[in-house]
Amino acid sequence: MNRHQIKKAIIPAAGLGTRFLPATKAMPKEMLPIVDKPTIQYIVEEAVEAGIEDIIIVTGKGKRAIEDHFDHAFELEHLLLEKQKLEWLEMVRKSSKLANIHYIRQKEPLGLGHAIWCARKFIGEEPFAVLLGDDIVRADQPCIKQLADIFAQVNCSVVGVQEVPIDDISRYGVIDPLDREGSLYRVRTFVEKPPKEAAPSNLAIMGRYILTADIFDFLSRHEKGAGGEIQLTDAIQKLNERQTVYAYRFEGKRYDVGDKLGFITTTLEFALDNQELRAPLLHYLQQLLQAKKNVGK
Ligand code: UTP
Repeated sequence: MNRHQIKKAIIPAAGLGTRFLPATKAMPKEMLPIVDKPTIQYIVEEAVEAGIEDIIIVTGKGKRAIEDHFDHAFELEHLLLEKQKLEWLEMVRKSSKLANIHYIRQKEPLGLGHAIWCARKFIGEEPFAVLLGDDIVRADQPCIKQLADIFAQVNCSVVGVQEVPIDDISRYGVIDPLDREGSLYRVRTFVEKPPKEAAPSNLAIMGRYILTADIFDFLSRHEKGAGGEIQLTDAIQKLNERQTVYAYRFEGKRYDVGDKLGFITTTLEFALDNQELRAPLLHYLQQLLQAKKNVGK
């Protein structure tokens, strides 16, 4: 195997999803459907398209539906076969054949950094990918593949970033860029959720990472950061003090599905790109907008 090739990925999906309560009380937010596919399936598909062979999903309390989704559904498959609903059968089977999917439980949602640490034995010494369970990226080339290609060139950890409006910056991990070559940045510091006034840039970390296994040295310290959580960004900053960690401004559009407005706009956009739904949805939206305008008259 080429030692620069990324073969393993972690998808953390054990968070509480408080921004989406009460919907996420008994249902994982990673299973919220965007049109007809759960969010986490888009993310698994991105990893598979990038050539990743083994995926570990970090789950927690109330997340059983994720395991069921990527498992065989014998009764359903049998029923669909009996009824000769072959197209649906293929769709149902697809999710159980995507990749080798493994699971580990994070016993308590202590933060993203802790969730990644939970998967350390699965990763071993290899560099690996991280794709957040509630962030979809649509791009010509899978986002995580773009980062993996950069990793192959520089042989250092790479974090995916994009510009965000400065008013939103305190929701993200942010980079303080040292210098850049095209879309690749060397980074002075990585800061988690800085207040707007203290934000060193408007370049935010967007849920995609390629990391060397050295990150576990820092995650194993279990140090709490912003919001009292064990933050991945803090460990990345420590790693950056020992070995270079790059930031790469990837091509593509990122959708934050874990946020109510993000979920609604993502659903709308994906539905408008769906051939079957586009015309009736546009028609409905036009009528709705007209009706809403008339209400105020
Ligand atoms: P988020 O911060 O978006 O998830 O973490 P959250 O904590 O569930 O969301 P809110 O803020 O309460 O609404 C990004 C990803 O990391 C996972 C989440 O499941 C999500 O996919 N995560 C977060 C964990 O796996 N464990 C944690 O302790 C925290």
